[in-house]
Amino acid sequence: MGVIEAHRERLPVGAETPELSLGEGGTPLVAVPNLGDQLGVELHVKLEGLNPTGSFKDRGMVVAVAKAVEAGARAVVCASTGNTAASAAAYAARAGLQAVVLTPVGAVATAKRAQSVAAGARLLDVAGSFDEALRACRALAEQDGFVLVNSLNPHRVEGQKTAVFELLDQLGRAPDVIALPYGGGGNLCAFAKGLAEAGAPTLLVAGEAAARPTTFASAIRIAEPAHEQEVQALVAAGRAEIVTLADDELQRAWADLAREGVFCEPASAAGLAALRRRGVEPGSLAVCILTGHGLKDAAAVDRLQVEPTVVEPSLEAILEVLA
Ligand code: F0G
Repeated sequence: MGVIEAHRERLPVGAETPELSLGEGGTPLVAVPNLGDQLGVELHVKLEGLNPTGSFKDRGMVVAVAKAVEAGARAVVCASTGNTAASAAAYAARAGLQAVVLTPVGAVATAKRAQSVAAGARLLDVAGSFDEALRACRALAEQDGFVLVNSLNPHRVEGQKTAVFELLDQLGRAPDVIALPYGGGGNLCAFAKGLAEAGAPTLLVAGEAAARPTTFASAIRIAEPAHEQEVQALVAAGRAEIVTLADDELQRAWADLAREGVFCEPASAAGLAALRRRGVEPGSLAVCILTGHGLKDAAAVDRLQVEPTVVEPSLEAILEVLA
């Protein structure tokens, strides 16, 4: 069951909205006791990288694309560091719409580009930053027949809030803290909306890269967060806290998650890194939202500087290397 079918009554969908699903949502919640013990809390991770295109974007994209079809759109357009593009490409392909995706040249992980190309999207490498690509994309979306599917599209936020309802079901209660990355802030706003609708008092802790325009976590290489004002309002209301992280804190959290068997992409580790920096009330129930799969950005592993070892195919040679 996809997000639209599972959460119909909490989404802006009706009889005219097409049934659209690639099987998004229903992602696992997994306990990470070693990382939890280090923090002195009960810690779980929600594996949003197990959505159909490998990131949390699918929850919102299925709603945005279904609504675009309902509105009679010809094409969907987005600017992206890669995951939004891959998701838009897949859902547009399924729905029979064209997808036009604008990505900052040289700054998108290979696997994410591959997903967009394979799905038949029109992929344009913009000679500029993500922020410049987004501005160009907003202008393109003014054209007739084009619908913007960045998280400025409110249907994206509606779909993404379903992660909260699912999480509360899985835990049987509201967690004390939910930690997640802060790139443009769309997902943070979606979680805040979901928590408000569920009446849950959970604190949101969001990790952003200090080096926003250059961070190695390329998914969140965003200098000007599109949802900054809403995020500031959440902070002022005491519903969210922002933690600014150095790249080495991000990298450590990412590698430590992998060493507990959970391989996410670097940006996805921002929630854990933020909890470590901020600290959490002992004994709390905390959840980190792991937004994208580790295979999305396999090249990031080069940073761990583990050299390949070539060995002769014999027991002696292998034992010698392992000694
Ligand atoms: N994590 C991953 C894996 C992402 O791809 C993104 C954003 C974020 C976190 C941040 O989410 O922007 O809602 O605060 N990726 C966008 C993209 C920018 O184009 O795929 P946010």
